[in-house]
Amino acid sequence: MARSAAWLPWPLPALLAWGGAWLVFVALLRVAPLLLAVLLACSVGVVASLLARNWWRRSWVALGFPLSLALTGAAALPAWAWLAPLALLLLVYPLNAWRDAPVFPTPRQALDGLAGLAPLAPQVRVLDAGCGLGDGLLALRRAYPQAHIEGVEWSWPLRLLCALRCPWARVRRGDMWRTDWSRYQLVYLFQRPESMARAGAKARAELTPGAWLVSLEFPLPDTPAQARLRLPGGRVVWIYQTQTQVHTPQT
Ligand SMILES: C[S@@+](CC[C@H](N)C(=O)[O-])C[C@H]1O[C@@H](n2cnc3c(N)ncnc32)[C@H](O)[C@@H]1O
Repeated sequence: MARSAAWLPWPLPALLAWGGAWLVFVALLRVAPLLLAVLLACSVGVVASLLARNWWRRSWVALGFPLSLALTGAAALPAWAWLAPLALLLLVYPLNAWRDAPVFPTPRQALDGLAGLAPLAPQVRVLDAGCGLGDGLLALRRAYPQAHIEGVEWSWPLRLLCALRCPWARVRRGDMWRTDWSRYQLVYLFQRPESMARAGAKARAELTPGAWLVSLEFPLPDTPAQARLRLPGGRVVWIYQTQTQVHTPQT
């Protein structure tokens, strides 16, 4: 998947993140309690890890600072304080979200052309279910500038960053599976193949007739798409309309 920091050759992003974390740590040591300095420095790595391409690189970016701090012995911390980086990681990548998908952003132009295939009346509500840092919201806004764009995100730090990035959208923290989809004319997903059967069942149960379910990359199982957008690089945006095309497969 294309990542925002793909233009930086590896391991430069990791080195920059570690350097940034150390700078923050050294600067804060003079003015803040040790634990707070460690926490804020760790959060530099954790936030930077969101831009890394895969889990292996994310771990390096996020864990480089706490590991180097432990190895150099630069700070005398109580043993329990080493749980802080772990707690931070769990806040940004909560276990609940791992079942569906970690944060991977929708490319900005990925939904250009969607409005022609899935037309919407102005002012309707559109949801990005699992909105991450807001890249899907930005792509949806390009496609439907007149719609009310909303996002729901499980991780509260991501929700916070997303709301800062997309002040024109309504972004809330919550579970997309517990969100009522019936209030939306279009629900957009960029999750994992394993989530798609559940998404199809939820769409059939909740979306109103004529509403759309749109999924980047992963199709609904056993459900013919109403239309699809092909992106450069071979990725596909799968487009389904309720009642006309999203149906229970025959057994
Ligand atoms: C692949 S990212 C997509 C982000 C965004 N939709 C985009 O396209 O740029 C998936 C996001 O879904 C979130 N997520 C996973 N499970 C969730 C759930 N049950 N409820 C809300 N958000 C969830 C993850 O935290 C992650 O930010």
